[in-house]
Amino acid sequence: MYKQYFPLLQNRNIHYLDAAATAQRPQAVLDGVQAYYTRSNGNAGRGSHTLAMESSALIEAARTAVSRFIGADNSGEVVFTKNATESLNIIAYCYGLEQLHTGDEIIISIANHHANLIPWQFVARKTGAVLRYVYLDERGNFDMSGFKSLLGSRTKVVAVTAAVNTTGVVFPVQEIITEAHKYGAVAVIDAAQSIAHFPHDVAAWDCDFLAFSGHKLYAEFGAGVLYAKRALLEQMPPFLYGGSMIEFVSEQTSEFKAGGAKYEGGTLDTAAIHSLKLSIDFLTEQGLAAVHTYSEGLHRALIAALQELDFVDLYYAHAERRVPTVAFNVKDVHSHDTAYILDEQGVMVRSGHHCTQPLMDYMGINSCCRASIGIYNTQEDIDALAAALKKVHDVFKQ
Ligand SMILES: Cc1ncc(COP(=O)(O)O)c(C=O)c1O
Repeated sequence: MYKQYFPLLQNRNIHYLDAAATAQRPQAVLDGVQAYYTRSNGNAGRGSHTLAMESSALIEAARTAVSRFIGADNSGEVVFTKNATESLNIIAYCYGLEQLHTGDEIIISIANHHANLIPWQFVARKTGAVLRYVYLDERGNFDMSGFKSLLGSRTKVVAVTAAVNTTGVVFPVQEIITEAHKYGAVAVIDAAQSIAHFPHDVAAWDCDFLAFSGHKLYAEFGAGVLYAKRALLEQMPPFLYGGSMIEFVSEQTSEFKAGGAKYEGGTLDTAAIHSLKLSIDFLTEQGLAAVHTYSEGLHRALIAALQELDFVDLYYAHAERRVPTVAFNVKDVHSHDTAYILDEQGVMVRSGHHCTQPLMDYMGINSCCRASIGIYNTQEDIDALAAALKKVHDVFKQ
């Protein structure tokens, strides 16, 4: 249904089930990027000629589109970075290092992606703060009562993922934020895996910080988003010093732009940022509710197909709420071997630890395969995966 809009899937005879790593791009996004470079390419924010100003206007249009998409009150709260990793590092460096002290506590989830885990290890090491973990219940859900028991007057940061990239389990961000605020802690939400699958509303959630990458939302590589409340952006120091982020520079001191602009030092990737607006426009034209319902249907079909295979272990398929990402292993077969044989049959899934090594340890596995759905996927992709898994089983069974 939506596959027709994705040229790569017309050009290659494959079953691409790796949207959680990066989504394929629709023609409208590719055309828009081509049009940008063939008509408007200039350095945004540098200069007053037509092309520079057109580029600046595209960035501001993208900022408005993103801020509406995530429910921000004010587009000045949206900062463009190169990816979610950079956004999360800005929070760690500019909020964590500045605000935390010995004995303060940072609560993170065992299911956090390394991008929302290692920066907090770094902050803890540098400041003397303590890192505390929330674990999972037996179905892979966020352990809310364990979380509540960790919260206290020393809690300064709660950094969690909205949807786990390895298992697809959705965490209750609204409740997590509300609980964190009872203790005066800020909440950092990693929306890298959730942004494509359900509506986000940072204002309604009273979210302090949120991060995601455009390339998982059908946009180009190179555009990330950092959302932060205006008061936090004003309070924090800049991250990258240099061009574009200053108000005034003298020999010994500089004054920086207000709000989010002071985090956009250096030349931005205008084409990628523009593509983020194009991808949001594309999804909006298709109808967000329709898009979400479509991939949710495929998600159910994927789980049902894998459950039919008694030689496949599925992880946390019965969690309370999930995005269309499913973790599995063929029993007694390494995930890389499985992925390799699937690939030989044109079926592409991710294998390995998925940048969640502490989660792998917690689950008691070394690695797993992950099939993740984008709106271009179809029932045929799921059937192809099931058939290809039977081949894996045949190859390895004694
Ligand atoms: C949950 C989560 N957070 C953060 C990231 C990092 O995204 P990026 O590599 O685009 O910075 C990923 C990437 O897979 C992710 O799944």
